[in-house]
Amino acid sequence: MRLHRLHIGCGNHIKKGFVNIDFFNENADLKAQAHKLPFKQRSATRIESYQLIEHLGYINCIYALSEWYFVLKKGGKLIIETPDVDKSFKKYLASTSDQDKIRMLLWIYGNELPGYYHKFCFSKKILRQLLKSIGFKKIKFKPQTTYRQYPGLRVECVKDKKDCAIFEVLAVLRKKFLKKGLVVIDDLKILEIEDKFDHLKKEASPKTIFKEFSSDPEMMNEIFSEFKKNKLI
Ligand SMILES: C[S@@+](CC[C@H](N)C(=O)[O-])C[C@H]1O[C@@H](n2cnc3c(N)ncnc32)[C@H](O)[C@@H]1O
Repeated sequence: MRLHRLHIGCGNHIKKGFVNIDFFNENADLKAQAHKLPFKQRSATRIESYQLIEHLGYINCIYALSEWYFVLKKGGKLIIETPDVDKSFKKYLASTSDQDKIRMLLWIYGNELPGYYHKFCFSKKILRQLLKSIGFKKIKFKPQTTYRQYPGLRVECVKDKKDCAIFEVLAVLRKKFLKKGLVVIDDLKILEIEDKFDHLKKEASPKTIFKEFSSDPEMMNEIFSEFKKNKLI
């Protein structure tokens, strides 16, 4: 299988040696949505994404990060840069000129072009928690390399070789739920499902699957079948 390096939400910044992906920019090598990539499981060694996740919204971001986890091979690396909402609001409050305040608000909220307005902004704590819940390990924050004049986060993390079975299965299930129309991107129901998934991460057992998902037999059957296939139950 051919292994790729992916640059997602590339805009006009085409990176050599990467498949440059964007849903709105015509210069990209591939037009695709961040949460719906046309790549096989474990087919990428590295994913980089600069100033994209704030455009997705929190719920879509769960499914995008899960898709990236699915596509990365074990040991693969993920790098993300995004505005730092805590520091940005602090800078906004501290600025005395209206021009500086407007600049900070545009950094936080984005602009009106398609694909350029921000739906959600992350703090270090929220981003760390989200990456952890998808399964990423060795999460390290470093200084931002793009748009250094603005307060931003750069996070580097990996899909660890160890202990990734449950997270891989959950990533497969999210894709299946989407494909079958059992969930819709941006729907708050996704947050309820994530809470139930948290219970399965703590205790992967038939009893927990039944307790959490008996109200949705189609989802429950998919979960039972994936968990059995992967010898998690
Ligand atoms: C602020 S630009 C960042 C571009 C570039 N990475 C940079 O750092 O300058 C955000 C990019 O993400 C793209 N984008 C927005 N939503 C997307 C989505 N759901 N899937 C893929 N690309 C998306 C936009 O078209 C845009 O090119």
